[in-house]
Amino acid sequence: MDPPITSFRTLGELEEAASRRSLDALWAYIQGGASEERTLRANRDAFRSWGLKPRVLADVSSVDLHTEILGARVGVPFWVAPMAYQGQVHPEGEVAMARAAGRAHVLGAYSTLSSRSLEEIAAASGEAPRWFQLYLQPDFEVSRSLIERAERARFSAIVLTVDTPVLAVRDRQSEGGFAIDGSIPIGNGRDVVPPTRGPVRQGELYRLRSDAGATWEVVDQIRSVTRLPVVLKGVLDERDAREAARRGVRGIVVSNHGGRQLDGAVASLEALPAIVAAVGSSLEVYLDGGVRRASDILIALALGARAVGIGRPLLWALAADGEAGVERYFSLLATELATSMALSGRRNVAEVDRTLVERTGP
Ligand code: FNR
Ligand code: LAC
Repeated sequence: MDPPITSFRTLGELEEAASRRSLDALWAYIQGGASEERTLRANRDAFRSWGLKPRVLADVSSVDLHTEILGARVGVPFWVAPMAYQGQVHPEGEVAMARAAGRAHVLGAYSTLSSRSLEEIAAASGEAPRWFQLYLQPDFEVSRSLIERAERARFSAIVLTVDTPVLAVRDRQSEGGFAIDGSIPIGNGRDVVPPTRGPVRQGELYRLRSDAGATWEVVDQIRSVTRLPVVLKGVLDERDAREAARRGVRGIVVSNHGGRQLDGAVASLEALPAIVAAVGSSLEVYLDGGVRRASDILIALALGARAVGIGRPLLWALAADGEAGVERYFSLLATELATSMALSGRRNVAEVDRTLVERTGP
């Protein structure tokens, strides 16, 4: 049996404790990526190819971490990435995550496959903005009903995840024995189904479900049933970013699903600059994948991301100590970010510009 994650004093200690847990089934699912986990590693390595060039004597006696995401003011330029099944990690699951995010004024994105209902999550979020992450359902009426519920519960955007037409081959998860199937309870109701496991036989693919058959028209279809802004999550090619912009999408998450989908896909940080160059003036660009420390956030922001999503570390913090663990995590990361901004000679998020970073590696 792996040692449990308990309290943590630093971000490094939390990461270290999580890495020691990767043997049991749930943790193999959480920590693992697709196939040989090339992309999982690439996401981290990409940040090491950039260095910070601080400015000095810039009066950093006060540093402001606030920013705006789709017009909503938030406390920090990082947000909670949508992650399924948080009830498996802690009994309060997404409700604990949302309470902590609400208190810290952090934007939270919550999965279709949440353990708790989107209404419970909304009630726990306080004044912090929240996004509903949609996994397209085989029957569009089920997707529509989820979107309408999210709108009623005052979610402020629909995040359509587009990098999961089928679920990837995930060696570590399979070896651990965790199966994404109908047996895991989902808070949003029994109609809701997870993406299918691939590879699958033709025919079965469509019978079981999945967005395997989806095309760009689905973006128009979603836009026709909601007033909420649509964000696409899981874009790596600038041609897709341009198509999204043409279709009225308001934000793009440059993401490879934390290395859990297409193994061999480029690191999200590598894909970021070209997407910012292509569409950065017409919509907001965010990034997730491998963001662990303040330096990562500064590099992503300097390369044009408006804000970054944090995935696995928040599950570690939730596992360690529920709501209090997540709150502690936000506080440690925000403190490190404010400190690093001061040490960079940047007083606010707008001052984190391209001149802060220099490519230092391959
Ligand atoms: C995810 N991710 C994810 N994404 C999504 O759109 N819907 C989902 O339900 C899930 N579920 C999920 C479960 C678990 C256990 C993990 C680790 C991740 C992907 C997530 O939103 C994000 O893209 C990555 O986790 C970001 O990478 P890091 O920060 O984990 O490296
Ligand atoms: C995952 C799916 C559920 O990455 O998004 O596990």
